[in-house]
Amino acid sequence: MTLQTAIESKVRSAFEAAGFDPALGTVRPSDRPDLADFQCNGCLAAAKRYRMAPQAAYEKVAAHLEGGFETAFAPPGFLNVRVTEEGLLGRAASLAGDPRFGAGTPAEGRRLLLDYGGPNVAKEMHVGHLRSSLIGEGLRRLLAFAGAMVEGDVHLGDWGLQMGQVIAWIEEDVPEALDGAPFDMDDLRRWYPAASARSKEDEEFLARARRVTAALQAGEPRYRAIWDRMMEVSKAGLRRDFDRLGVGFEYWYGESRYQGMLDGMVDDLLARGVAEEDDGAVIIRFEEKLPPLILRNSRGGYGYGATDLATIKDRVDEGMAGGAPDAMLYVVDARQKLHFRQVFAAAGRAGYVSRDRLEHIAFGTVNGPDGKPFKTRAGGVMRLKDLADMMLEAATERLKERGEVDTDTAEQVAMAAVKFGELSHDREQNYVFDVDAFTRFEGRTGPYLQYTAVRLESLRAKAAEVGIEPGAPTLGTGTRELILALDAFPAQLDRAVAQRKPSVLAMHAYDVANRINACYAANRILGAEDGAGHLALLLLARRQLVLILGILGIEVPAEM
Ligand code: ARG
Repeated sequence: MTLQTAIESKVRSAFEAAGFDPALGTVRPSDRPDLADFQCNGCLAAAKRYRMAPQAAYEKVAAHLEGGFETAFAPPGFLNVRVTEEGLLGRAASLAGDPRFGAGTPAEGRRLLLDYGGPNVAKEMHVGHLRSSLIGEGLRRLLAFAGAMVEGDVHLGDWGLQMGQVIAWIEEDVPEALDGAPFDMDDLRRWYPAASARSKEDEEFLARARRVTAALQAGEPRYRAIWDRMMEVSKAGLRRDFDRLGVGFEYWYGESRYQGMLDGMVDDLLARGVAEEDDGAVIIRFEEKLPPLILRNSRGGYGYGATDLATIKDRVDEGMAGGAPDAMLYVVDARQKLHFRQVFAAAGRAGYVSRDRLEHIAFGTVNGPDGKPFKTRAGGVMRLKDLADMMLEAATERLKERGEVDTDTAEQVAMAAVKFGELSHDREQNYVFDVDAFTRFEGRTGPYLQYTAVRLESLRAKAAEVGIEPGAPTLGTGTRELILALDAFPAQLDRAVAQRKPSVLAMHAYDVANRINACYAANRILGAEDGAGHLALLLLARRQLVLILGILGIEVPAEM
């Protein structure tokens, strides 16, 4: 039990014993950490409800309080709580024996299907896909730690006009590829922008690309064969890029998977009166103020909406996430909000899955320091690999300032910089991707958190050399703040899960790191009498820091 819950349960009982409603005994962290650790504002409400002075209400409650903490009345009517030294040490001791820091053993979790990443094949990945990938991966680890059974699907965009454009380009410029000549990711990376540029300036080419797309979708064997090979090459490239970021998926499905299901789905929806014809198109209308979802246009073409609806049905039918997901979470750009509202409402109407089990985990945009959408130095749309290389270069420079550079360490620092750069920002906000700021060793950065953990490990080694082993934790400057932060982990975890925001946990890790460093700076360890006790507390805090970094997918280097 955390200090907050333990204290709250005592305060509630005291309210009850005083003849007041126990619900008034809610306790939360104090607004004035200089005066108190926790506070309860219920005496004010009790005073009003039971017609007495707030101080009198406080005294009635306080008469029934004891154990591990002290209370005081603070005008106009707050009950301030200070944890006693024994209370703090007792909590530190119980945390030391708990690998999950009070987060409890997860109960049989819900089955969740996470839809994230979502890059488009034969198109460059852009920074929005990076956001989706990193938030999705952070969320997956967070939810899994909290006990859910989570599986991820990358949901590739592998079926649009872009595929026909590239094939039309190949047909004209590298016809031998259509007959089986090998090609690789670098070829695809040159072909796509060329095909897309050509479509913009050459109407005839664009018309041809559309015909190729239609023929591909109708199953033309040569197109289908090259499409298969393009998919193979692209997926291998994407896997490499995602691996480097520690992002992984159970399912590598894409939009193409659902195309064969669309006719049947639409027929069924029409037959059941869920969908209706409208001017040659097929749509689903909604009762509330929501524009209808277009399933099939008047030319017989299916779009993004139909595909996403079929995807939901398929995920249920297939029993993804260990047997029909209890919920599906979509980590997708906030600009697709309307699309998901329509698709989710349609899935509810169709009876595929109830709408409250579908969540759009929306995120904002990423800008460069110039305030414009982020681009790598090479300009143009970002490639994940370029971005990772750019971070690696910056991390290497930073490490050079400190001495010799180990390449594995530099890679770990670079990945920490990108991941924490993303995960320390509230997903709903836009943020600035600042390579220079993200790779710093001080401030709100991944490398700072890594460095904090690495430093304590070398402290442990140095202490061991002079015969100091961690003992029972002792109190000193800043230790109260540190223990209270460690104690707050389960509450922060719950908040992160409820809000679907790994950033909540990332910010908690930053807070813990700051408190660790404050303690480290203020208390002598080597050669001090209570050094062993301080060391124990710092190492305990390090363990929580490393645990959270693990949840965020950030590795701690051996040295840096
Ligand atoms: N490929 C899409 C894009 O680039 C994202 C896919 C998101 N997932 C989904 N089920 N619609 O915008």
